[in-house]
Amino acid sequence: MKKFFSVEDVINVHDIIKEALLLKNNPYDFQNIGKNKTIGLVFFNPSLRTRISCQKAAFNLGCNTWVLDVHKDSWTIEMNDGTVMNMTQEHLKEAISVMSLYCDILAVRTFPNLSDKNFDYQEIIFNKILDYAKVPVVNMESATLHPLQSLADVMTIAEYTSFFKKRSKVVLSWAPHVKSLPHSVANSFSQWMSKIEQVDFTITCPEGYNLHKRFSNGVYTTHNQNEAFINADFIYAKNWSSYLDYGKILSKSSDWMITENKMKLTNKAKFMHCLPIRRNVIVEDSVLDSQYSIVLQQAKNRIFASQIIFLKMLQSLS
Ligand code: CP
Repeated sequence: MKKFFSVEDVINVHDIIKEALLLKNNPYDFQNIGKNKTIGLVFFNPSLRTRISCQKAAFNLGCNTWVLDVHKDSWTIEMNDGTVMNMTQEHLKEAISVMSLYCDILAVRTFPNLSDKNFDYQEIIFNKILDYAKVPVVNMESATLHPLQSLADVMTIAEYTSFFKKRSKVVLSWAPHVKSLPHSVANSFSQWMSKIEQVDFTITCPEGYNLHKRFSNGVYTTHNQNEAFINADFIYAKNWSSYLDYGKILSKSSDWMITENKMKLTNKAKFMHCLPIRRNVIVEDSVLDSQYSIVLQQAKNRIFASQIIFLKMLQSLS
């Protein structure tokens, strides 16, 4: 594997889920493959889970890691081409080219600006990174996608359905938030769900929040949250800002918060969220703290989602 930008870089989704779950049972099976190898983790935006789970995944494979938190640790980076750099100190071109000389795999997080739809949705920054890097690149959340999160999410659903033996209804529900958030988790989850035939996938969101067709084409989308919740086996809550009115918050109403009462409409659904989560804004405490909440299992699976991707890349190096 030379790059992991989206689900499209995976040859067979079921196989990669299986292999990741095997690694979960035997995390040190490949602990020699990373000898003398280094993974560079570059963050243009904050992280808790992605950063630490990637470090743990690399450790399990015997790899060294370095981490750069660009805004805290580095020179200011110029992202645009042709700029007279009176304000910024180093261009993305040199920064990425140089960093890729210091590692065997480069993993990068770079969020959208949420003001220029075309710029974000063409993945201008991540494509430049792919262009400048001299080693395999992993997407740790780009302007439109978060594939490591989605792989962990589908692994979690696989675990709870005996690897999709039991057909299940999975609902991605928009939930309120005070800040304008990216679409990447929702886009990516929808994209991965579309590769799994054994799930009935529904998106529910208020009017004005439909996801871009590229990621939600053919997915049943309803503005009636209660209807969507009926008989659901998994409720995946997530906020995202509007795509139509790009980057805007159209509603902060608590009407869409995930509550105990709404969960009663479901088939004792598992509650999912990628974290971090705002309690009593996205979801009531009583749901997040209930036996049905599987957010920690999702977070744990982040390790093995990263580990299988790093493993595939290391195998393609040798
Ligand atoms: N879910 C997730 O990507 O978490 P972090 O932003 O903390 O990495």
